[in-house]
Amino acid sequence: MNDRRDTGTSDAALLRSIVRAAANAPSAHNTQPWEPRITAHGIELGVARGRTLPFGDPTGRDTLLALGAWTECAVVAADAAGRGLDVTVRPAIADPSAIVAGRSDDVLAELRLRAAPDGATGAGDAAGPDDVAPAGGRSSAPLGNRLTFRGRMHADPGLLEGASFELPSWLRLVPISAKDLAHFSSLGTADVLTRPGVAEELAGWLRLAPMHPRYDVDGLSDRTMLLPIPLARLAAGVTRRRRLRNLSARAARRTSDLVRRLLLEVHLDAAGDDADAAHFVLVADANRLDLGRGVELTRVLNAPLGLPADRVFEAGRALLRVWLFVTRRGAAFAPHSEVLDSALAQGELQYRLGLDRRDVPLFVTSVGVPAVAEPPRSARRRVV
Ligand SMILES: Cc1cc2nc3c(=O)[nH]c(=O)nc-3n(C[C@H](O)[C@H](O)[C@H](O)COP(=O)(O)O)c2cc1C
Repeated sequence: MNDRRDTGTSDAALLRSIVRAAANAPSAHNTQPWEPRITAHGIELGVARGRTLPFGDPTGRDTLLALGAWTECAVVAADAAGRGLDVTVRPAIADPSAIVAGRSDDVLAELRLRAAPDGATGAGDAAGPDDVAPAGGRSSAPLGNRLTFRGRMHADPGLLEGASFELPSWLRLVPISAKDLAHFSSLGTADVLTRPGVAEELAGWLRLAPMHPRYDVDGLSDRTMLLPIPLARLAAGVTRRRRLRNLSARAARRTSDLVRRLLLEVHLDAAGDDADAAHFVLVADANRLDLGRGVELTRVLNAPLGLPADRVFEAGRALLRVWLFVTRRGAAFAPHSEVLDSALAQGELQYRLGLDRRDVPLFVTSVGVPAVAEPPRSARRRVV
């Protein structure tokens, strides 16, 4: 009886530390859209209300990728503690529009803790996941070190080839030149900004001065955006007041790169000046998935995501493994989702890369080794 209660308690402690470690996962605009709930056997994962991007991410692609990445972080943390997690996706994940609209309180995935091997006690083990990855911390291990870096980066030859081994056969990394990426990024930014609500929504996630009440919690800070301090402070007042924010966001639809950089999470240097970094697109090959036939297949391919939602979630898990692979080599990502957020830019990208209708691009990023010693880290919600 005592034994059973001890095991339960240590499992609960282990699960809490796994949840803390998984909070290091990446998410578009650092929204952190996950809502984990610890149960007697594991973790139930849902989406957090108000932490999705209904305007910027209407298909739910980025939300599903982030939830997948969170899940993979949890799996990595459990492995590091000598335990495993079995992941089962629940049917509610199939409705991305409900997920993005924050209408769904349903469990999207269940992570069940595997039984401890004989003699292991879970959370009490030497290599607990907290050692691996304190949320927002700077551990020497990959989860806590994984990074988005929007400044100058050096090349790491062979990085993409190595990273490809982390992927299942239906996902691949397609290289793209710096010049092409710069073009698609500008096109995507300009196009996305014409959509009502997008700039306003993004401005709402900016944290441009430490006095912002959520500076240490979530969103994009002046530091991680590498904004010059005077400029960031100037803009901070604007982005904190909703009316001013909306006015300036509207004006930005017609203005300079500088203002766009303030209002959109766009890394303008990476694709242009920084020809050292490599750039790639994560592409799903629907031909290699069993997606049915005839009308059924057409329905999936024509749906806004172009893939079943559970596959995008799975791609998020694989993406995180690739991100950790590059982290171990000292490298970071500088994503460019604006390329896929715009149908125009995405269409041109597919044509340029020779992708056909069943090749679904899911993520675009630059990758390289940050040229600074202490790259800025992004904020995280506190996890108990
Ligand atoms: C699906 C997804 C899309 C993202 N898109 C962009 C993007 O378009 N531009 C960008 O600068 N960062 C992008 N990011 C990176 C996030 O902003 C970053 O993960 C977040 O701010 C937390 O920072 P961290 O990765 O350093 O922990 C994206 C991340 C994810 C998971």
